[in-house]
Amino acid sequence: MTAVAAPSFSSRTQTILSTLAETGQLKRLQTIEGPMDRTVRLQGRGEVLCFCSNNYLGLANHPEVVEAGVAGLRKYGAGTASVRFICGNFDCHAALEARLCAFYGCEAAYTFTSCWNANEAIFATLCEAGDLIISDELNHASIIDGIRLAGVIKKGLLRTVYKHNDIAALRAKLEDARKNPEVTGTIWVVTDGVFSMEGDIADLPSMRALCDEFNALLVVDDSHGTGVMGATGRGTHEHFGMPASAIDYFTGTLGKALGGGAGGYIVGSARAIALLTQRGRPTLFSNALPCTIACSAEKAIEVLMREPERVQRLRDNVAVAREGIRGTGFTVLESSTAICPVIVHDTAKAIAMSKRLLDFGVFVIGFGFPVVAEGHARLRIQISAAHTTEDIASLCAALKRLKSES
Ligand SMILES: Cc1ncc(COP(=O)(O)O)c(C=O)c1O
Repeated sequence: MTAVAAPSFSSRTQTILSTLAETGQLKRLQTIEGPMDRTVRLQGRGEVLCFCSNNYLGLANHPEVVEAGVAGLRKYGAGTASVRFICGNFDCHAALEARLCAFYGCEAAYTFTSCWNANEAIFATLCEAGDLIISDELNHASIIDGIRLAGVIKKGLLRTVYKHNDIAALRAKLEDARKNPEVTGTIWVVTDGVFSMEGDIADLPSMRALCDEFNALLVVDDSHGTGVMGATGRGTHEHFGMPASAIDYFTGTLGKALGGGAGGYIVGSARAIALLTQRGRPTLFSNALPCTIACSAEKAIEVLMREPERVQRLRDNVAVAREGIRGTGFTVLESSTAICPVIVHDTAKAIAMSKRLLDFGVFVIGFGFPVVAEGHARLRIQISAAHTTEDIASLCAALKRLKSES
């Protein structure tokens, strides 16, 4: 029998890309030529309304936030040129972490260059053989990969997944764990606060009650809830009237509501943060958050704490936008979050709709596989406190026009 030659890397890669292009699934990256705001300047298109950024509070281009970054650049220079434990630990990192502790009312915080990094660090560092991690099936990719990585690094660490937001399914997993002799250590229950693609909210009160009943720790990645949920934007726990202390560990991003620059963090017990400082691989082997970003992120949190009315403005905009989208004939997945998904199923269709919306001056991205499961493609409309009522009316007019063409 003659062996079939394996396709070369370049022809294999070209085949994938050509198939994506031929089936209308190729993502074409838009280039922005100015700041992130309620409108953005797109190369080749000019100014369009931006309804796809995570700039929930409109702080990405806030003068004080920008100026804090500029001042940081002047004070600290362009880069840290080191990881934290060598010579990359600057006073602006301590100031940002103190600000995060004040914001959450938590004991300790540690920052990373991204929340992806934070999710890579937390499980692989804090979990051990005999522990069990129970994760929502629709958790963010960084949680999924962080848990997978932890399973490789810590042999004997057990992992399982429960049906999305299904408290009965979570209880069943906890009951299984109780009967499993391999579970000899800590049980970790992990969830997004606000789910990034669905826009729905984890049932944190029920999860806390289950964690108490089964002596488990609760970890919440509230990247899309921070600055958005709760009267003062503390996050999904505040939405439910829970104190931050009801969550054992938060992970979060500085790349969305909190200035939008970059960076992520873990907040929780001082002991766990000390262990992350000693043993976290992203902590020990990757440069510190750039100082300019630490300075602007700290200012963004300060502005949020000083001006909680921004959160109320966002909430008002979300209510108007959700009502408006419903009136266009499209169905939006219901919740009170700033993520408004319109399910269209087919990836090529979602991309084509996004392109058509740009023709109407509205920037909304179509998401398909592998960002969401096959057959679950969607337009994801994101609302900001920076949007005006007129902006939202223009969004709805564009959606109505789109609907009339379908
Ligand atoms: C829930 C969640 N976690 C983590 C991340 C990653 O954040 P970062 O961009 O800071 O890596 C995201 C970003 O999309 C997210 O939505």
